[in-house]
Amino acid sequence: NKTIGVLTSGGDSPGMNAAIRAVVRTGIAKGLHVVGIKRGYNGLITGDLLDMDLRSVSDIIHRGGTVLYTARSPEFKTEEGMQKAIKVCKEHNIAGIAVIGGDGSFRGASDLSERGIPCVGIPGTIDNDISSSDYTIGFDTSVNTAMEMVDRLRDTTESHDRCSVVEVMGRRAGWIALDTAIAVGATAVLVPEIAYDVEKELVPRIREIQKTGKKHYIIIVAEGVGHTAEIAKLVEEKTGIETRATVLGHVQRGGSPTVRDRVVASQMGYHAVELLAAGIGNRVVVMKDSKIVDYDIYEALKMVKPFDKNLYDISNTINI
Ligand code: F6P
Repeated sequence: NKTIGVLTSGGDSPGMNAAIRAVVRTGIAKGLHVVGIKRGYNGLITGDLLDMDLRSVSDIIHRGGTVLYTARSPEFKTEEGMQKAIKVCKEHNIAGIAVIGGDGSFRGASDLSERGIPCVGIPGTIDNDISSSDYTIGFDTSVNTAMEMVDRLRDTTESHDRCSVVEVMGRRAGWIALDTAIAVGATAVLVPEIAYDVEKELVPRIREIQKTGKKHYIIIVAEGVGHTAEIAKLVEEKTGIETRATVLGHVQRGGSPTVRDRVVASQMGYHAVELLAAGIGNRVVVMKDSKIVDYDIYEALKMVKPFDKNLYDISNTINI
């Protein structure tokens, strides 16, 4: 039987388990032998593999995290590490790998494909920042978590007539921030994609809104903008509104995946194995206009996903 591998790499995201499950079950349905590779590319370097059968992926569809564990592997980026990984693939007759992760993980997948091990990428990250895909597995769960957390903050913010400045995740991207802001009705949202001056724009906006009788405020800041504590301090100083800063942090990475993440993960895992079973590699499975399709990895990595300026404008218009 032809053998394929599956690994998760980079930051984990809710729904990765559903994707692993789909890869394993689709592979077995197509008569393939499937091995799980532990801790991302590190497991490929050290040969930390395990045979996956139908029952090995039972009871994981509803669990956050990744049962295969994950890592960011600096060693894999070296030619030596890469050669070790290729040796392990040859020893175990691995004829293709499904790589669940972000753009960084896809670069590794293209390097391996180039050296004769066909790899197919599946976008898994809460940040929704994979340039080639409209959607990434984990995003929906994380924004729902962020929304629930901010709903809780709203209770206490309102009781005290305060302003809450809340930092959500998104290392280089404001997608989590924007959707959360819309969902909680945040007075302002700061994202790395759009310049927004705290003193010259945010403070006057709050002052204007104050005049309409509003007494409590929620400001969402993407991690990529940062300086959350300083922003809170400045808002308090300049508006006189008592302000608190909250960083939501890694809670946004955990928890049971939503319907959307489970469904998309299942579709993408299935599609990836269809490619691998046909011996096709160097592809990335993506969502485009609500359809699951695949692109050449190199082309995919060069793509640019424009930020949703329209949704940003909607937020600033109605969250007032
Ligand atoms: O890429 C997902 C993400 O959660 C980012 O939003 C965040 O900047 C980063 O990972 C945090 O990484 P780590 O888990 O290594 O602290």
